[in-house]
Amino acid sequence: MIIAPSVLAADFSQLKSELEKVQEAKWLHIDVMDGHFVPNISFGPVIVQSIKKVSTQIFDTHLMITDPMKYAAPFVNAGSDRITFHIETVDDPIQVINYLKGLGVKVGVSIKPKTEVKTIKKYLKYIDQVLVMSVEPGFGGQKFDPTSLIKIKELDAIRKETGLDFLIVVDGGVNDKNAPLLKEAGTDVLVAGSFIFNSESPQERMDSLK
Ligand code: DX5
Ligand code: ZN
Repeated sequence: MIIAPSVLAADFSQLKSELEKVQEAKWLHIDVMDGHFVPNISFGPVIVQSIKKVSTQIFDTHLMITDPMKYAAPFVNAGSDRITFHIETVDDPIQVINYLKGLGVKVGVSIKPKTEVKTIKKYLKYIDQVLVMSVEPGFGGQKFDPTSLIKIKELDAIRKETGLDFLIVVDGGVNDKNAPLLKEAGTDVLVAGSFIFNSESPQERMDSLK
């Protein structure tokens, strides 16, 4: 299981020491919000560039923004290794996927809790990961929506049926209670914000997820 701590839940007044606490994680999850696709604003490429100086982790960037094509390149230049965009934001997913591939990053597609797996089915063969939202995107610290488990099982079944190798990532309300269920359903990557950072020992929390 890959653990991806979500920087959004870190204390930004001491970002460097916060990141040191989760340096054993392979991935770092970076939530980008534009106040348009979601009702919250987080941070832009400048912050990502700063974080890159103190981390060698894989930067898994989750674009919760209306116009992923417009902002993807600055994030890649700032250090993003993987870029996930929301299927709900684009008219021509293939165009966006190809554009992102051209930037040299791994590509993910995300679905909100009310978006069905069938909306992304025909794109699965072109992408590296699917990010299943288990809360409404926009804020950390929300309650896990168990219907995400059904979608993850559906994606895992498609993967087995087709032999495709996209990763299944889950994001929102992940903790040590739902992690075993997520694993069983076919999840490869657990994104977790508050569960990891709202603790005296983020490393212990990550171990418990693993
Ligand atoms: C929500 C973000 C998540 C969030 C997860 O819009 O995409 O990545 O940071 O935070 P928790 O784990 O607190 O739900
Ligand atoms: Zn996220």
